[in-house]
Amino acid sequence: MAETVLEFKNVTWRYEGTPKKGRNALEDVSLSVKKGEYVGIIGANDAGKSTLCRLCNGLIPNSFNGDLSGDVFVNGRNIKDIPTAQLAGEVGSVFADPEAQLSQISVFDELAFGPSNLEVPREEIIKRMEETMDIMGIRAFRDRSPFSLSGGEQQKVAIASVMTMTPEILVLDEPTSNLDPIGTESVFMIIDELNKKEGMTIILVEHEIELMAQFVDRFIVLDEGQVILDGTPEEVFSHRDVFEKIGIFVPTVTEIASIADKKYGSWDGSKYPITLNEMLDKIDERL
Ligand SMILES: Nc1ncnc2c1ncn2[C@@H]1O[C@H](COP(=O)(O)OP(=O)(O)OP(=O)(O)O)[C@@H](O)[C@H]1O
Ligand SMILES: [Mg+2]
Repeated sequence: MAETVLEFKNVTWRYEGTPKKGRNALEDVSLSVKKGEYVGIIGANDAGKSTLCRLCNGLIPNSFNGDLSGDVFVNGRNIKDIPTAQLAGEVGSVFADPEAQLSQISVFDELAFGPSNLEVPREEIIKRMEETMDIMGIRAFRDRSPFSLSGGEQQKVAIASVMTMTPEILVLDEPTSNLDPIGTESVFMIIDELNKKEGMTIILVEHEIELMAQFVDRFIVLDEGQVILDGTPEEVFSHRDVFEKIGIFVPTVTEIASIADKKYGSWDGSKYPITLNEMLDKIDERL
């Protein structure tokens, strides 16, 4: 059994200035993530997804004011006891706006920036940069200004600049929300490769549920700061009533299967297909 790399134990967080009648951003959240797992975090707006990400990388409580109870552990150590810079090397963070994450005059410098701050020896930095440029397919941009790149290219560089710090866990908060469909797909492919080939643990927040369902091992569904579902895509999407209540659509294929089930009794109700290929396979089985 793989080891636990991330653990939340009864975590409650309330941002400073939340009105008296306002709710806690996270309420008694407990979860644990194993090494190499690919976890999708979904939920409606304001559900607490970004807050959860900020607790993984230490932005909460280090850079936000508020009240925290419970504990977050990264690799078995409480984040309260890990210096911020060190935590950045263990939990890489990527956000929606790639431009806001870039600061250097060239892609080369951008990739060197993180590990230099962590005082990684020069030889090792060069080795990591060479590997990362190949994995991410960004060698051609090496000497360009990150600000001259397209949004999709910038997001690849942003991910690469985190990769050179060799984090065990990569937390991505809506990394494709500013990208076109091609940029979105290529970022999804890269995240998948980091997970499958490099064994990186992935925590991905996205609204692209259908696309996510093709890649993730597990979904955690948040609602009003609480974990309401946690399981494989098949398990969580079997709770269509819950999704309806929180106002999120299950994948179209799952919806069609469930309607067909009610009308014709044609599917096993606890195991609706999620992707088009799964649905076609099931139809093939029946023909
Ligand atoms: N910096 C902040 N200061 C005060 N309250 C905040 C802050 N950031 C988030 N909140 C509140 O915390 C709750 C959870 O917000 P969060 O941003 O984590 O949700 P989210 O699921 O990421 O939403 P979205 O899908 O819109 O990105 C919301 O009620 C929000 O208003
Ligand atoms: Mg958010």
